[in-house]
Amino acid sequence: MIEKIKDEEYKFISEPNIEVVETLEKITKSSKEPIAVGEIGIGVGATAVEIVRFLGNKDSYYFFSYEDDVKELEKDLKNLDYCKCKLYPMGNTKTIYDSYNWKLGLLYRDTEDLFDLVYLDGAHTFLHDGLATALLKKLVKPGGYIIFDDLNWSYKKAPDLNPEIRPETLKEFSEEQIETEQVNMIIDVFMKTDNEWELIVKKNNSGVYRKKPKSSTENEKNNKDMSRKKPKSFLEKLKSIKN
Ligand SMILES: C[S@@+](CC[C@H](N)C(=O)[O-])C[C@H]1O[C@@H](n2cnc3c(N)ncnc32)[C@H](O)[C@@H]1O
Repeated sequence: MIEKIKDEEYKFISEPNIEVVETLEKITKSSKEPIAVGEIGIGVGATAVEIVRFLGNKDSYYFFSYEDDVKELEKDLKNLDYCKCKLYPMGNTKTIYDSYNWKLGLLYRDTEDLFDLVYLDGAHTFLHDGLATALLKKLVKPGGYIIFDDLNWSYKKAPDLNPEIRPETLKEFSEEQIETEQVNMIIDVFMKTDNEWELIVKKNNSGVYRKKPKSSTENEKNNKDMSRKKPKSFLEKLKSIKN
């Protein structure tokens, strides 16, 4: 698979995501604990080959995509002499309603606070990535990151999927959905509305969001609780009536 990185046909997915690389570099410099990274949607492995460069033998890389693709990438990564981390291929079938969300759901059922960083770069639809985001918000550790790619992507703008080139798109999505930048919509719905997450940087069509470390969210909650006036107890109320 990774031989396709240099292939002209795959030029739109042949560059690693720079925000992922920079954020991971920062994490590996500061963390003393084993690191777990997830990538949703692997393409031809352009970002994968960079991710594993940063990871040591105690670290883990979980990669989610169609099952044939994850198998191929696993084989390629194992052949890289610098790839030392544990590899977790998380494949799904190509049946209509299957997606990486199933595997994410299985993880969600068993665990939380698993990932230090997840790079979400799969279908870019509200249908798939809305649910993925909801699941990932628990699966990412406090202090960890979700990086969203292709914020401005839409079916209307996609050279291969817009309805003029691919009429089936009109049967799959409404006009409004075709025109909407669905990753931006996911951010509006799930990230901007959630105090536990903060935007770190938005550039190169990617958005880096960080789950606030536990202490800061707990402090914020406590401060809010302190500022709220405590309701009078029943006894206090009785006393004040008497006076
Ligand atoms: C833009 S590419 C990912 C590029 C890659 N993240 C990188 O930076 O090199 C999107 C990937 O998501 C996968 N994908 C899209 N929809 C999917 C689905 N429903 N289930 C599994 N994989 C899916 C595609 O097959 C493709 O590999």
